[in-house]
Amino acid sequence: MNKRKILVTSALPYANGSIHLGHLVEYIQTDIWVRFQKMCSPEGDGHEIYFVCADDTHGTPIMLRAEKEGITPEALIDRVHSEHLRDFTDFHIEFDNYYTTHSPETRQYSEDIYSKLKAADPSLIGTQCIEQFYDSVKNIFLPDRFIKGECPKCSAKDQYGDNCEICGAAYAPTDLIKPYSTVSNAALVMRTSEHFFFKLSDNRCISFLRHWTREENHLQPEAANKMREWLGESEQSNLSDWDISRDAPYFGFEIPNASGKYFYVWLDAPIGYMGSFKNLCNQRNINFDEFWKKGSTTELYHFIGKDILYFHALFWPAMLENSGYRTPTKIFSHGFLTINGEKMSKSRGTFITAENYLKQGLDPEYLRYYYAAKLNGTMEDIDLNFDDFTARVNSDLVGKYINIASRVAGFLVNYFNYRVTDISGLVIQSDSLQGPEQFKTGGARLIDELLENADLIHTHMENRRYNLAISTIMALTGKVNEYWNQQKPWDKAKQLDDEQQKLSLHLVSSITIECFRILTIFLKPILPKLAQNAESFLNVEPLQWKDLSKTLLPGHQIKAYKHLMTRIDRKKIDAMIEASK
Ligand code: 2FM
Ligand code: ZN
Repeated sequence: MNKRKILVTSALPYANGSIHLGHLVEYIQTDIWVRFQKMCSPEGDGHEIYFVCADDTHGTPIMLRAEKEGITPEALIDRVHSEHLRDFTDFHIEFDNYYTTHSPETRQYSEDIYSKLKAADPSLIGTQCIEQFYDSVKNIFLPDRFIKGECPKCSAKDQYGDNCEICGAAYAPTDLIKPYSTVSNAALVMRTSEHFFFKLSDNRCISFLRHWTREENHLQPEAANKMREWLGESEQSNLSDWDISRDAPYFGFEIPNASGKYFYVWLDAPIGYMGSFKNLCNQRNINFDEFWKKGSTTELYHFIGKDILYFHALFWPAMLENSGYRTPTKIFSHGFLTINGEKMSKSRGTFITAENYLKQGLDPEYLRYYYAAKLNGTMEDIDLNFDDFTARVNSDLVGKYINIASRVAGFLVNYFNYRVTDISGLVIQSDSLQGPEQFKTGGARLIDELLENADLIHTHMENRRYNLAISTIMALTGKVNEYWNQQKPWDKAKQLDDEQQKLSLHLVSSITIECFRILTIFLKPILPKLAQNAESFLNVEPLQWKDLSKTLLPGHQIKAYKHLMTRIDRKKIDAMIEASK
């Protein structure tokens, strides 16, 4: 078997805001995939997989936010870094490295990539003078989000620079009447300055991107179609050169030999993937070049939201391709989160932070389970509907899966000294079997059915169609419950003087607990903490995918059952919404 070497990333969250349920769609999706891959290739004899991320720390909004709080940007990003890492850890998102783009490693690769693009012959870096809004009280050029003015169509006051909330008109910030700065309230003036551009419209970029975006499934079909629109088919493309510099004052990396000019945050953000990985390489003695140099045979996957596809599917591969680095193997983009069918909103209380969710005592694994049940590997939006959320967690996860363990445990504990009996010889022989053999037969069929679905579940997980994995697993979970009910163990328990009844109760309980073990393997990437608790209840080593080919041995002792998960209390959701308003 060829040893796969895989590097996985999630998009880097900005260092000026809290992690919310929308962010978590992506981090949970990525974490499930990475845990699944790691579980299929246990350390030592399997593939090498790393999951890195970082805070995206540069830019004007972060600089202004720090100023408003009366602290340095460095102090702000340090604080936010620990808050982000706390939230991710609480949701069991397990990075191999969670770093920052404000790092020597990211600076080094930013300078390296920039200098290689500049040194290309002819150069892929150019300059142009551009006019932008300038706040002459704060002495800064302002990004559009800090600009307001009167709507050019209906004259409504205090409208943002892209569209009017009153009449719905769409326009450019330069169309606003009496534009002003939301930072200082000063009237804005236009000012010219020289910017650096990455020549994306150069044929070296366009022809490379035309191939790259269409070949080898680098992109999902819907994403590839979007790129086709942007790249155009003929000689002409719709791509223009990309402005990669910002003027001082700016929080970021100063461009070498260009005093007062800084790399635009979106230039160094994806390079932050390299920076975080380089930092990990230093800690663990991994060969960075093997993963990043052109010609690398390792795999590189970026999980992102569809809103930043443009950066990851155009600018990023074009930059890498022209500076001696490898390009991504695949980009997995997902849709946005809606809550109860609508955009997250502060006034409705649906702009919910990770912290607010946890504060109500809601289990993070409810959300991991629900998102998994919805994620289908496409760019469609996913909806978190709180009624559906409560129903699915309570009736499927707790009512079906957890229920198996809680029902069986008592019988093994009370009547069989915690021990399971021999189920290894369970073979289907004949339907005419009588007595305990009958139970073996039905149980053998059930275990076989679970195992026969393992490859299908594996494929769904690999393809990020977690929704299909969950529906398959839950259908099997339903069958295990049916088997248990049909066997009526409670009746058998009343006739324990009868050796045959006792034997069959032991068999049925052992078969059912074995099914629970198999289902736990299937669910482990999605519910790592629950699986860990189930492992200690089952009294087994951390489960790997290959443990599907084993069974609990005769005489194996389980532990006493402790609550693995409780039902969602709807009051907690209402309290969370109230607290988020
Ligand atoms: O859109 C965002 O939230 C960005 N901070 C994502 C950056 S991803 C990567 F390119 F760094
Ligand atoms: Zn208007």
